[in-house]
Amino acid sequence: MKKTFILTALLALGAMTAEAQTYLNPNAPLEERVKDALSRMTTHEKIKLLHAQSKFTSAGVPRLGIRQLNMDDGPHGVREELEWNTWNAARWTNDSIVAFPSLTCLASTWNRDLSQAYGNAVSEEFAFRGKDIMLGPGVNIQRTPLNGRAFEYMGEDPFLAGEMVVPYIRGAQANGVACCLKHFVLNDQETDRFAVNVNVSDRAMREIYLRPFQKAVEQAHVYTIMGSYNMWKGVHCCHNDELLNGILKKEWGWDGALVSDWGGTTNTMEAALGGLDIEMGTYTDGKVRESAFGYDDYYLGNPFEQLITEGKVPMSVLDEKASRVLRTIFRTSMNPKKVIGSQCSEAHYEVCRQIGEEGIVLLKNEKNILPLNPMKNAKYHNILVVGENATRSLTKGGGSSELKTLRDDTPLDALKRCYETMISYAPGYYSGRAMYDRVDRIDSAKQAQLKAEALEAAKSSDLIIFIGGLNKNTRQDCENGDRESYDLPYGQNELIAELAKIQKNIIVVTFGGNPYAMPWLKDVAGLVHCWYLGSESGAALANVLTGVVNPSGKLPVTFAAKYEDYPYVQYGAEAYPGVKKQVYYKEDIFVGYRHFATKNVKPLFPFGFGLSYTTFAYGKPTAVTSGENIIVETTVTNTGKVAGKEIVQVYMTAPQSDVPRSAKELKGFAKTKVLDPGESETLRISIPKNELAYYDETGHQWKVTAGTYTLNVGANVNDIKGKVSVNIN
Ligand code: BGC
Repeated sequence: MKKTFILTALLALGAMTAEAQTYLNPNAPLEERVKDALSRMTTHEKIKLLHAQSKFTSAGVPRLGIRQLNMDDGPHGVREELEWNTWNAARWTNDSIVAFPSLTCLASTWNRDLSQAYGNAVSEEFAFRGKDIMLGPGVNIQRTPLNGRAFEYMGEDPFLAGEMVVPYIRGAQANGVACCLKHFVLNDQETDRFAVNVNVSDRAMREIYLRPFQKAVEQAHVYTIMGSYNMWKGVHCCHNDELLNGILKKEWGWDGALVSDWGGTTNTMEAALGGLDIEMGTYTDGKVRESAFGYDDYYLGNPFEQLITEGKVPMSVLDEKASRVLRTIFRTSMNPKKVIGSQCSEAHYEVCRQIGEEGIVLLKNEKNILPLNPMKNAKYHNILVVGENATRSLTKGGGSSELKTLRDDTPLDALKRCYETMISYAPGYYSGRAMYDRVDRIDSAKQAQLKAEALEAAKSSDLIIFIGGLNKNTRQDCENGDRESYDLPYGQNELIAELAKIQKNIIVVTFGGNPYAMPWLKDVAGLVHCWYLGSESGAALANVLTGVVNPSGKLPVTFAAKYEDYPYVQYGAEAYPGVKKQVYYKEDIFVGYRHFATKNVKPLFPFGFGLSYTTFAYGKPTAVTSGENIIVETTVTNTGKVAGKEIVQVYMTAPQSDVPRSAKELKGFAKTKVLDPGESETLRISIPKNELAYYDETGHQWKVTAGTYTLNVGANVNDIKGKVSVNIN
């Protein structure tokens, strides 16, 4: 009797332990862990998973030892630690990190391996700071050069953005840190971002705006996605049933958790039924205002719990949301394979610098003014550096992507390391405090004085390096507002033009996430565009200017000669920034170079453009079909005098089909290794046949038209070196 009792007790205990082990057992299948955890939770505990418990965390289940989710911005490095419940800095002393280059810069490298290295390095910093979810990367489409957040995205082309984001996500998630891909979807402007309703054809939606997100879901299995503030079909994208339940979860089969943008949730029933899983940042205006509402008062807090307990929303809806959050927890904060990571390691600075060096784009190089020789045989001995961006920290400002860095190497410091006393500096203009000061706050007397000083200094120089551009101040490249003009701000156009009159040896270097007008272009000898380069800004730029590195970046966005040339501008305010909070994407699929190439509009610098200090010759391309892929082959030879890398691009021209097609569409690309002078490399570029498809709005499906496709192989969209045809049945 006694024996039986002990045996039964032991068995029960064993069963309990085995049972307890399922959700805590890292070796158990993920879905079993989720199911097991869910079965042990009360309704209230499930509800708690679905909304914030602080500015940047959502709760776990402490009673069961289920950890919370620690999130942080994103996407260029880990944001400074904030107080638990305010937007104030927590003033920690251990949260200075490496700022990596902006995603626009990453896109300019066209280097998938570097993207993977970026994801890996930045996620190691997130892991070390105790974060589970990195709020980024972003793949909204650069539809307008005025977009205040374009620097956080990957350019105007869905193929390039999709190809570049996949390795980033893989690199990060392999470390047990989830990416939170943003902003899903159509958050292509900051003007009226909280309310604007985007009207876009199903075809443009599928082919252009959803495409990079779809790739991230299907190829990189991104763990979390952030809904955008704006609306589509009159419903906010953070809880848009058709978008989130229909397309993302059902059609694409995505099993991750949909996180709201901060303050992007507006309605309990929609939040309940519209596919939102974690509600963040409600009752703030995104940055500054606070309210008395507690976290339990969130739409997915008490109000949602009430709907469940009253039976107005079925328990299955709650269970599904909670399952998605649990899955995320087991993939990150309770993933035994999550790395410990590291912060400010030399390896991270190395990745940062490499991406900067490969993302910098050389746009003009008259009479080979660049590269400048190293110090010992320098061509110029009195180098005047002009421009505020030579000394300004460009990791500051911009909004949520602002970073607190341990090291911020400026261009002026780096150039002084190279040329010592040959360098002198004049700011030439000023722009006020990062983020806060608008153009109209600038003191014109002070501005005039800085300009006069620079022009005076120019007289005794033998070379001017102007370092300016945009700077992440409000209405420059900054969240929650678009740029107000296509021109460079703070009188830079006039300043550059006047400097160029005094000194013909002038190289203009610009930072910024967007294209801009260059009325002075013909008067300057050299032009280099840097996007934002992060902690190693100075070193990366100096290495390119001095020729230690041969530039190999190419533009992920078209630089138009004038603002009016952008495709949507002809349609007036309805097409951008919208009228009465309605915006119509009237240019349809003809975004960026699709418009310039189809309508024969000559850009200042075409999509895919970038110069090198060497030259490349292309062999005749060939193409064969192999199963579901087309394999394009071409040989590239370095025909110049210095080693360098080339980016080869393949643009499709489709046969006549039922719908208008773009004259050219990017369908493949590859970057060579470093080719020594005279060296060749044969590149094999594989294009899945389904990449040739267009979206058929009537049949609601992708369709590949049968016929002959031309594959244009070239150095940029307008510089086609060879063509090859393939027949598709
Ligand atoms: C931005 C997001 C960001 C969030 C948290 C929002 O205003 O749109 O991109 O992740 O704030 O800082």
